[in-house]
Amino acid sequence: MKIFLDTANLEAIKIYNDMGIVDGITTNPTLLSKEKGNPAEIMQEIVRIVNGPVSLEVIATRIDEIIDEAHKLKKYGQNVIVKIPMIPDGMKAVKKLKEEGIETNVTLVFSANQAILAAKAGASYVSPFIGRLDDIGNEGMLVIKEIVQIFRNYEFRTQVLVASIRHPVHVTEAGKVGADVVTLPPDILGKMLLHPLTDKGLVAFLSDWEKVKKENPQLTI
Ligand code: G3P
Repeated sequence: MKIFLDTANLEAIKIYNDMGIVDGITTNPTLLSKEKGNPAEIMQEIVRIVNGPVSLEVIATRIDEIIDEAHKLKKYGQNVIVKIPMIPDGMKAVKKLKEEGIETNVTLVFSANQAILAAKAGASYVSPFIGRLDDIGNEGMLVIKEIVQIFRNYEFRTQVLVASIRHPVHVTEAGKVGADVVTLPPDILGKMLLHPLTDKGLVAFLSDWEKVKKENPQLTI
């Protein structure tokens, strides 16, 4: 399972990228709006720091403008994946960009049928938003399960990228149903790292070692 960070925060990206646990980044206009500074410079810096795929989203909703923005975003670097909304002109753009060899991530997907169409159009990734489905009383993870099964049945090569993740259990569940990628806000990745028994165990290891050192002050490892 690949782990992407769902953020435009450079500080968080650097912290987790240095740990070697981040395979890529997803951004969107909302995430960029939360950061101080020029969005173009932020996007450029993310693409520079991270070796893996970085999804940068178009703002346009009409085919010609989507294609124009996709070409501009692609200039940030080879690892850019152009993120395109699940709308009719978006599907046309996905098809055209695939023909040009430009990879896409179809966003704002909320059903298995939308995911099938994005895959048919030629998207490299589909991004179903599970938290927003949970928010309105649907079970987001069921949609992931359906998409994974359908893509397997027909050997679609499009990767299932689980987005709108709200807590660590979403990550475990996405892994159990076989999703290809999860994209997480940095605070959820932080929560995944922690366990109270790890902290408690480390305190005991360190204090026991102090006792050994008291008896053998010259001791080193
Ligand atoms: O990548 C966008 C997606 O993860 C949105 O998440 O929390 O705004 O529903 P959220």
